Amino acid sequence: MPNPVATAKRFANPAAFTPFFSIRAGKLHCERVPLDRIAAHVGTPAYVYSRAAISAAYRSLDRAFAGANGIPHTICYSVKANSNLSILRLLARLGSGFDIVSGGELERLRRAGVSPRKIVFSGVGKTREEIRAALRAGILLFNVESAAELEILAAEAARLKKVAAAGIRVNPDVEAGGHPHISTGHHRHKFGVDWHDARRLYLAYKDSRWIRWQGISAHIGSQILSAAPFRRAIARLADYVRELRREGIALKYLDFGGGIGVRYSSESPLDLRAYAAAISRAVRPLGCHLLLEPGRVIVGPAGVLLMRVLYTKTNHGKTFVVVDAAMNDMLRPALYGAVHPITIAAHVAAAFRPASVAARPAVPARVDIVGPVCETGDCFLRDWPLGEVNSGDLLALWGAGAYGMVAASNYNSRPRAPEILVDGSRFRLIRRRESFTDIVRGE
Ligand code: LLP
Repeated sequence: MPNPVATAKRFANPAAFTPFFSIRAGKLHCERVPLDRIAAHVGTPAYVYSRAAISAAYRSLDRAFAGANGIPHTICYSVKANSNLSILRLLARLGSGFDIVSGGELERLRRAGVSPRKIVFSGVGKTREEIRAALRAGILLFNVESAAELEILAAEAARLKKVAAAGIRVNPDVEAGGHPHISTGHHRHKFGVDWHDARRLYLAYKDSRWIRWQGISAHIGSQILSAAPFRRAIARLADYVRELRREGIALKYLDFGGGIGVRYSSESPLDLRAYAAAISRAVRPLGCHLLLEPGRVIVGPAGVLLMRVLYTKTNHGKTFVVVDAAMNDMLRPALYGAVHPITIAAHVAAAFRPASVAARPAVPARVDIVGPVCETGDCFLRDWPLGEVNSGDLLALWGAGAYGMVAASNYNSRPRAPEILVDGSRFRLIRRRESFTDIVRGE
């Protein structure tokens, strides 16, 4: 756990973290919109994203691979990080490609009007139906993760008489990633195929009529904060590409996955230019087109989860701030012990306090911030120096743009929160709050 006081202090001036949020006249703003205005409009909890922050993150990664030292590349934003249709459209307009892991994500991109030629399909458990849909659409690349999947892909391609552009996701056996649950590139993980088997598969299908080898891919983990594991993995991948070339298999695409970490509290993220330089150096001599699948770094810091204080209470000397957001809205703290700082976005004048909440005296220095779900794990932060709050005050949970809303559930029959996209001094509802009817539809 990072030093909470230092972290909270730093977030007292969010501009030090992100130029797209600021405090003006005592109120937290996203771009030029005060967040209490959004909360008054759509209620809480609510996800709010900065359009400018998403665009800037996409552009700075793209630029890191452009220019004199650049290489041909396509950023294939990892849809799983935040799959809202408006965000997919925004990224498509910026020129992004996309990385998907399900038929559902393929369908989202179809509805967002994305060209299938900009889609790569990863995942250990693609079903026959999903493979068929992606073949029909004519996607850029299948990242195959097992021999059995490759058999199905070849059979379906033959049936549809459509050649499948494919690569194998190799497991480079590199240890990386911020948490055991999000580390993927080690030999004991389920992802990818080990190099020995991958080579065998490339050769076995070398002259296949329906499989055209076009690529190789690897994704070593998520929330990676140093360039070293990336460097080790790209060196291995480059060796594999050369070895395959000697065997007569020339690959056009090298897909290096995602995994770039972000600052949630006190982390120091890796320098994008150094990351790009290391990868470019390894890939340039191969003459391959580089594909990247970043998710978190594009959308993570661009979002906050807004919530209101419902109650404060003290049990055995410990103070709890009960908020109206919960683990069903944002799972990362409960699932990974992730620390997402929470700060005060706006105080509510006593006269405007919602009638549904009871006012109590302001709370002391360190508090646990907990949600209404009936689980002990429904706790966002422990012993957190939130500052004085009272019922009705508006809080913001930071770093909520990635793996937030996409992992929300209806646990405890709670409707999923709305999503709002801020653009300058305007904001737009990009997903409405679920109704109770939405929740029971299908039952
Ligand atoms: N490509 C593949 C094949 C992946 O499996 C992932 C993430 C990405 C790209 C994007 O990784 P990113 O750039 O976002 O690190 N729910 C977890 C993260 C799970 C990541 C799964 N795979 C969390 O909240 O930290």
